[in-house]
Amino acid sequence: MSVRAILSLVVLVILIGSHESTPIPDGLRKVEEAFVKILGQSSHVLSFARFTHQYGKKYENEEEIKHRFSVFKENLDLIRSTNKKGLSYKLGVNQFADLTKEEFQRNKIGASQHPFATSKGSRRLTGRALLQTSAPSARDWREYGVVSPVKNQGALPGASWAFSAIGAVESAYHIKHGKGSYDLSEQQLVDCTYSQYQQTTEAFDYIKSNGINNETQYPYLGVKGGCRSYYNSVVNVTGYVPIPSGAEDELKQAVGSTGPVSVSFGVLDTLQHYQSGVYTSSEPCENVVGVRQYGLAVGYGSEEGVDYWNIKNSWGEGWGEEGFFRMERGNNLCGIAESPVYPIVA
Ligand SMILES: *[C@@H]1O[C@H](CO)[C@@H](O)[C@H](O)[C@H]1NC(C)=O
Ligand SMILES: *[C@@H]1O[C@H](CO)[C@@H](O)[C@H](O)[C@H]1NC(C)=O
Repeated sequence: MSVRAILSLVVLVILIGSHESTPIPDGLRKVEEAFVKILGQSSHVLSFARFTHQYGKKYENEEEIKHRFSVFKENLDLIRSTNKKGLSYKLGVNQFADLTKEEFQRNKIGASQHPFATSKGSRRLTGRALLQTSAPSARDWREYGVVSPVKNQGALPGASWAFSAIGAVESAYHIKHGKGSYDLSEQQLVDCTYSQYQQTTEAFDYIKSNGINNETQYPYLGVKGGCRSYYNSVVNVTGYVPIPSGAEDELKQAVGSTGPVSVSFGVLDTLQHYQSGVYTSSEPCENVVGVRQYGLAVGYGSEEGVDYWNIKNSWGEGWGEEGFFRMERGNNLCGIAESPVYPIVA
């Protein structure tokens, strides 16, 4: 069978596979057969076929199939060897399993974010307001319905700061006004802020000066474009509160008593494949050069004696625990408490 024929078969199978009534196992079997012809017979090849089938992957030619398979195989080995260690978290095959860690970092996280940049000039939060209410031992803002659905930054590298900031504003608005579901515009932030180090604080500054539109008014395109004219804003921000760098206890205080807080963290290759549980690392990860992702701390708690943060990410619902992940709390893992900040909404 020619490569072209195999590829059209894969595409065909994927097209057919998207209709629920068609017999998917048969389609999958054909993908398997096609891949076995190119890659040989092994359990890895069968896993790869299942993966491409499940995520509707399309590859250009036989060479790319071979290359992606070798990347997938390496990732699968990392996933399996990590899971054998009996850690507090599990890795699994997700939509990123055919990307090298370099590709993942480049395409998802962005190359040149300045670590800890937002912590500069932050002030200690020892004011009366904070001390008055003590944070509960566990908190999950999702239970209050104030956390908007997980979004997907797509292939726009380094856009997570915009998603983190918008998520924080959506939650803060909901908590303050007792109603929400404003689906606010990340694209407006991406297009209209000009910054060397993309940061949530700049997002809040922008919204403070300009307000922010919603997704209908200024939809997400997933590429940076020119700042377009926009409509009357639907939500405004009056300021933001940075949490002192490294003060995880104050981050807990803020999440526990105020609401979700924008955070950032260093990213190791295992996070690409995170599936569930409390993520931890014996390798230092607070300052992986150029690799920093922004998220939204929506709660915290403990599981089997391990304290964790619950963080909303922007890699879609297919990643992690329906788009969220839990990260060990208490030792500033991956620099999670280096630059937290939350907005004050009007
Ligand atoms: C965005 O705001 C406009 C104007 O208020 C409204 O008509 C539209 O439904 C809103 N869209 C979303 C997704 O909230
Ligand atoms: C936000 O601020 C702008 C500029 O001051 C104003 O025109 C707009 O009405 C405000 N929007 C809301 C929702 O408060």
